Amino acid sequence: MSIQSAIVDQFKRPSGLVGSLAGWIMTQRPSNRERNRWAVALLDLEEGDRVLEIGCGPGLALGLVADRVSAGSVVGLDHSPLMVAWARRRNKAHIDAGRLEVRCGAIEDLRSVSEPFNKVFSVNVVQFFPSPVEDLRLIHGIMQPGGRIVSVHQPRHRGATGQEALSFADRLLEQKHRAGFVGLRVQRLPLHPVEAVAVLGEAGGTIAESHSQP
Ligand SMILES: C[S@@+](CC[C@H](N)C(=O)[O-])C[C@H]1O[C@@H](n2cnc3c(N)ncnc32)[C@H](O)[C@@H]1O
Repeated sequence: MSIQSAIVDQFKRPSGLVGSLAGWIMTQRPSNRERNRWAVALLDLEEGDRVLEIGCGPGLALGLVADRVSAGSVVGLDHSPLMVAWARRRNKAHIDAGRLEVRCGAIEDLRSVSEPFNKVFSVNVVQFFPSPVEDLRLIHGIMQPGGRIVSVHQPRHRGATGQEALSFADRLLEQKHRAGFVGLRVQRLPLHPVEAVAVLGEAGGTIAESHSQP
């Protein structure tokens, strides 16, 4: 395996030294910073929101959200202990103030979550979901009806094209529809080296059947 593909692999679950390099790239790369800012803007935050970020990585977006949600709460979830440590370190002031919690866990762990969130988002994570429709149903199950979901994606592999970003958005639109989300729409952000897409929607009124509370 080349060094480059070893680093790319690390974006799925950063660990060890190469994972630290991937985490450093996430915090420094202008396109990553920009698409995190965009995702937060699309959440249309209000101060009492209860917000969940799935796959928070080093926690770039969590701080931006916690700055805006003074009377609500923010939870970041990531299955990489390394990234959880980075996100906690980066956002220590918000954690100490009781506004933010960073949990180590995978998407499947949402089965044991009972608090309803009214805003859920992710940035370059949905492509790693093991079973996208099932996982989106899990997310639907922990959302307040009418709550907003925002998933931002920018293809970052070598030779990625804008057409790939749009095809990804089309697939995700269909998957979210099957998971029970409504009002689905796609937004686009011109970025270097390739545009980013966001698929937004709201949780429909009924809890999807596959979600089981503990
Ligand atoms: C490409 S990174 C993006 C990180 C962050 N959202 C950002 O934009 O800076 C993907 C992150 O999602 C996490 N991740 C991937 N699959 C996951 C899963 N099934 N459950 C929880 N976290 C996951 C990885 O550990 C990694 O930190």
